[in-house]
Amino acid sequence: MWTTKNMPDLSGKIAVVTGANTGIGFETAKALYEAGATVTIAARDERKIKEAIERIKTAGKGRGSLEVGILNLASLTSVKHFANRFISQHKSLDLLINNAGVMIPPASKTEDGFELQFGVNFLGHFALTGLFFTLLKRADHARVVTLSSGAATLAEGIDFENLRLEKPYDEWREYAVSKLADILFTKEFDRRLQANGSNILSVAAHPGVTRTDLQRHIPADDLDVQFARFDTVMDPWQGALPSLFAATDASVKGSDFYGPDGENEYAGYPALSKHSTGYMHDKVLATNLWEYAEKETGVHYFQ
Ligand SMILES: NC(=O)c1ccc[n+]([C@@H]2O[C@H](COP(=O)([O-])OP(=O)(O)OC[C@H]3O[C@@H](n4cnc5c(N)ncnc54)[C@H](OP(=O)(O)O)[C@@H]3O)[C@@H](O)[C@H]2O)c1
Repeated sequence: MWTTKNMPDLSGKIAVVTGANTGIGFETAKALYEAGATVTIAARDERKIKEAIERIKTAGKGRGSLEVGILNLASLTSVKHFANRFISQHKSLDLLINNAGVMIPPASKTEDGFELQFGVNFLGHFALTGLFFTLLKRADHARVVTLSSGAATLAEGIDFENLRLEKPYDEWREYAVSKLADILFTKEFDRRLQANGSNILSVAAHPGVTRTDLQRHIPADDLDVQFARFDTVMDPWQGALPSLFAATDASVKGSDFYGPDGENEYAGYPALSKHSTGYMHDKVLATNLWEYAEKETGVHYFQ
C-alpha cells in the first residue's frame, strides 16, 4: 500500500495547496512540507492559515518551508490578487493542488454571481490555474492536481443556463456538477497540454469518504446516520493520500484520476479510480465548459 513514506524528496519544489488550513488540504500541505517542499497555504482567512502553519511546524517533522497565501476562490478579484502576489515572489510552480471546496451550502453566489459550489470548486480554480500557467511551464514537469469526488458520477451533464443559480436550487445536484466540472477540466487541460507539447501533468484525485469540515452543512444527527452507512470513514491524513500520490508518484500520467482502492472507493489507499460516466469522458462537453470558463473569467491559457 502507498503512503507518504513512498513520496520522493521534494526539496527545492514549490507548491500551492488551496484550502490548506484544514481537512485534506491541510494534510496534503503538511506531507509536501515534510518531504521538503516550499508550500503556500492558500486559504481565505489569514488567522486560520497562521494557525495551520503553527500546527504543521509543531508536528516538528518538516524539512521545507511554509508561506501564507490569502485566496478567496469565491472572488475572481481575490484569485487575481493572490496569483499576482505569488507570481511577484516566485519564478516557477512545481505543484498546484486545486483542493479547496464547499459542499451543499445554502443557496448562494460568488462575488461574480456564480452558484457558490460551481464558482469555488471549479471556476475559481480554472482561473487560478490559468493565471499560474506561465509559472507551471517554467517548472520541470509541473503537476496540477484537481480534487473531484465520487459525487461527480451523479451529475447528469452541465446545465449552462443554471450556473448562476437561475433555476430552483438543488444543493447535491450543484455539488455533483461542480465535481464533474473538475474532472472535465482535468481531462481537457491534459488534452490541450499534450496538443501543445507540454510536459505539465493535469490529474485528478478524490478522497473517498473522509471526515472533515466539508460536512459542515449537514446537521450532526444526519451526518452520524450518513457515516454509519460506511464501514470506514477515513481521517484526513488518509483522505489526502490520493492527492499526494497524484502529485508525486512517478507512475502518474496526464488525465489519470486517483481515489482510495477499497469497495466503491469509499476508503483505502491510492489507486486508479474506476469511477466513470459518459459525461466524464464527453469531449464536446469539456470543450464547451473550457470555452465558457475562459469567457466568464477572462483567463486564457493558450494564446
Ligand atoms: N471529505 C470528503 O469526504 C470528500 C469527498 C469527496 C471530495 N472531497 C473534496 O476534497 C476537497 C477538500 O475537502 P475537505 O474534505 O478537506 O473539506 P474541508 O475540511 O471543508 O476543507 C475545504 C477547504 O476549502 C476552503 N474553502 C472553502 N471555500 C473557499 C473559498 N471561497 N476560498 C478559498 N478556500 C475555500 C475551506 O476554507 P475554510 O476553512 O475557511 O472554510 C477549507 O480550507 C474538496 O474539494 C472536496 O470537494 C472531499
